[in-house]
Amino acid sequence: MNRQVVDSRMFRRGRALAYLEDEDRYLTADSEPEFRFGIVGCGMMGQEHIRNAQLLGRASVAGIYDPSPRSVAHASELIAQRDGRSEPRIYASLEEACADPATDALIIATPNFTHLEVMRQAVQTGKALLLEKPIATTVADAWEVCRLAANHRQIVRFGLQYRHKAIYAEAAQAVLDQKVVGRVHSVNMLEHRFPFLDKVGQWNKFSDFTGGTLVEKCCHYFDLMNLFAGSVPRSVFAVGNQAVNFRDFTYENKQADGIDQAQVTIEYENGVIGGFALCMFAPGMREELIVCGDVGRLQACENSLLGGETENRVELWRGENGASSISHPSYPPYIARAGHHGSTFFEHAEFADDLSTGQSSGPSIADGFWSVVAGAAAQASIHSGAAVDVAEVLPDDFDAHLLGREGQSDDG
Ligand SMILES: NC(=O)c1ccc[n+]([C@@H]2O[C@H](COP(=O)([O-])OP(=O)(O)OC[C@H]3O[C@@H](n4cnc5c(N)ncnc54)[C@H](O)[C@@H]3O)[C@@H](O)[C@H]2O)c1
Repeated sequence: MNRQVVDSRMFRRGRALAYLEDEDRYLTADSEPEFRFGIVGCGMMGQEHIRNAQLLGRASVAGIYDPSPRSVAHASELIAQRDGRSEPRIYASLEEACADPATDALIIATPNFTHLEVMRQAVQTGKALLLEKPIATTVADAWEVCRLAANHRQIVRFGLQYRHKAIYAEAAQAVLDQKVVGRVHSVNMLEHRFPFLDKVGQWNKFSDFTGGTLVEKCCHYFDLMNLFAGSVPRSVFAVGNQAVNFRDFTYENKQADGIDQAQVTIEYENGVIGGFALCMFAPGMREELIVCGDVGRLQACENSLLGGETENRVELWRGENGASSISHPSYPPYIARAGHHGSTFFEHAEFADDLSTGQSSGPSIADGFWSVVAGAAAQASIHSGAAVDVAEVLPDDFDAHLLGREGQSDDG
């Protein structure tokens, strides 16, 4: 990414320089977008993708599809507000969105239970794809999504963008690239947050539609745990229940059934041990990652009270093995505000780079798959009360080889 262009976004967005003629613009000049996106699913996350595509400025939104007229209206307004260049096409169907030759890539931000069906159609196109997390609601469906993605001749990216949050990007550089804690032996994560927000059709209150809370929301955290462990889960034990949230909530005569607290223990194939703690009835948001290695310990936290400012902190202890430190990694506020603490902006930057180079930089197909497997195994463990051997939840036709060959076609 061109740093000078990044630095100019703050000035380009403001009104203070609006009086300038185009020929007097250098730092604030708009460049022609290189790519054109179609957005499939224009709710909360689809609109976040629109905002970030526009903030980054490397792609325009050429068309949108959503069966909800309100979502379409809000997304169209957002596009009109920020991108006066041209009106987006409003597709009448997914088929129309897939068939539009004016787009290079589709961003799929529909509810979890629709991902497989949408992907089955989307891979019929020659377009690159960004599919939101979780890639599917069950291990079997996730495996089918992976097979579709592996055989697609274009870039396929999965929406596990928490890797780009400032604290985790810093932690990854320190632990994985610089190996500051030495050999990793344990990875612990915590997510304490407010309840699930309202959604179109309230799909996120029902495990059949989400895959269960530990698949829906927590696939992000299992992805991070898998990343820092450098391995995939071998065995998963979990306890959890629906303690507080939506216990009296019904929709279309169906009782909400998502769990809102859990403790999960993971044994990884390489011997790393992992723990994950979830509470979804906290009046704020705290995320925490602790990685312990044989020469150090790193803790990364993101913390905010409801409506308050976010505090980021990464703490490294190295004792006599090297320098210890405390840092506060952050992104410019206008990037952080564009969604998920700036991680979605950097996801878009990498997606645009991937489209330019034709090379996928991840999260990989394997990352998408194992983040669902960990969550689904944890949900299964809560259900059975026993530890789940991950090999037993894998599909009969599972082939680890395919996960190492993402982006390459089976037939060469
Ligand atoms: N990466 C992240 O951090 C993150 C954050 C939030 C949500 N998500 C994911 O994004 C997806 C959407 O979540 P959301 O919060 O935007 O939900 P939402 O309910 O706000 O929006 C979903 C939209 O999809 C539309 N839709 C439903 N079925 C469709 C279909 N078959 N084709 C096209 N549109 C369809 C709905 O009408 C709605 O407008 C989910 O998979 C969710 O897990 C990811």
